[in-house]
Amino acid sequence: MKNIIIFGAPGAGKGTQSEKMIEKYGLGHISTGDVLRDQIKKGTELGVTAKKYIDDGKLIPDDLMVDILASVYDSYGKDHNGVIFDGFPRTIKQAEALKAMLDKRGHKVAAMIELSVPEDELVKRLVNRGKISGRSDDNEETIQKRLNVYHEQTAPLIDWYDKEGIHHHVEGLGTVDEIFSRICEIIDSLDD
Ligand code: AP5
Repeated sequence: MKNIIIFGAPGAGKGTQSEKMIEKYGLGHISTGDVLRDQIKKGTELGVTAKKYIDDGKLIPDDLMVDILASVYDSYGKDHNGVIFDGFPRTIKQAEALKAMLDKRGHKVAAMIELSVPEDELVKRLVNRGKISGRSDDNEETIQKRLNVYHEQTAPLIDWYDKEGIHHHVEGLGTVDEIFSRICEIIDSLDD
């Protein structure tokens, strides 16, 4: 069972690389952003709350996210060889909660893979995606807020996972396939 965190700033390529990891390794995929967007589409109470935070480039409160994550993991994770956590954790509190949740189930995170991409490239990718997909948080003002939130609240997790001994840095510039082969080297080196 290989649980893997794919980590990086908005636009780093987490979703893109997750798709390839799912195909090659048969991993499940938990994208907290996708879970929230699905709730928004369905017009649930959670969706209404989440939309306000997402459109303002802010994080949804930790307590809410931790509850959501645990229930998605239990309903979905057990059918796969492991799960990719995409967009979670995003704060130290979420990382601690994830560890406790997995410990309780006798599971663990095998690797945290950080995709590192320069900020001008992140902005370019997201602005372009916004034009095509119409994602409401892909406009320049909200992208800048999301990047600030990433630096302030999420980037400290790199040190946190370094101390856990499972942080792997990956150069996130290049073609999608080039980056994927860097990720495969890491996954293939993990113990079963
Ligand atoms: P979320 O959906 O997680 O968005 P994000 O982290 O901002 O990440 P993105 O989906 O924007 O980027 P990505 O790294 O997946 O890149 P992608 O592969 O799509 O979260 C959205 C919001 O939900 C948050 O702001 C927050 O409000 C809330 N939220 C979610 N999780 C939360 C949590 N745990 N706690 C609290 N709040 C939470 O690629 C981006 C673009 O680049 C695409 O167009 C792609 O085609 C292109 N691209 C990819 N790779 C390359 C490449 N190698 N070269 C050129 N272009 C590329």
